[in-house]
Amino acid sequence: MKKIIIINGPNLNLLGVREKSVYGDRDFQSYFEELKAEYEQVELTYFQSNHEGSIIDKLHEIGFSYHGIVLNAGAFTHTSLAIGDAIAAIQTPVVEVHISNVHQREDFRHHSFLAKNCVGVICGFGLPSYRLGLQSFL
Ligand code: DQA
Repeated sequence: MKKIIIINGPNLNLLGVREKSVYGDRDFQSYFEELKAEYEQVELTYFQSNHEGSIIDKLHEIGFSYHGIVLNAGAFTHTSLAIGDAIAAIQTPVVEVHISNVHQREDFRHHSFLAKNCVGVICGFGLPSYRLGLQSFL
């Protein structure tokens, strides 16, 4: 069974509550349960942290044994050389995902410190961005 993890970064614990016009009104937990039911053939797990170091620790922990990582690093995407380096350091391929189309938004969201080390980037499809990321590993 393929082991795939979805990792969400800062403020994504507030999906369904935060900036609904940008990120929608659905909480992530119920979406994750739906994905798990839809992809029973996958060992799908979920991790969320608001802390850069915890995300790096998680990447190190699972990055040599999992089949794929679907990562929405939130604002750390645009600031974190350290998460970019962690992606380069591990063996498990990472797909960068975003709910919103970051290229339609402020200039500072156009640059990613992660994308160079990822197998691909998916953005702008709302929560289904995560499903597309997951499908890319199947
Ligand atoms: C986001 C886009 C980021 O620019 C932002 O900081 C987020 C969410 C997205 O999923 O659209 O927190 O990663």
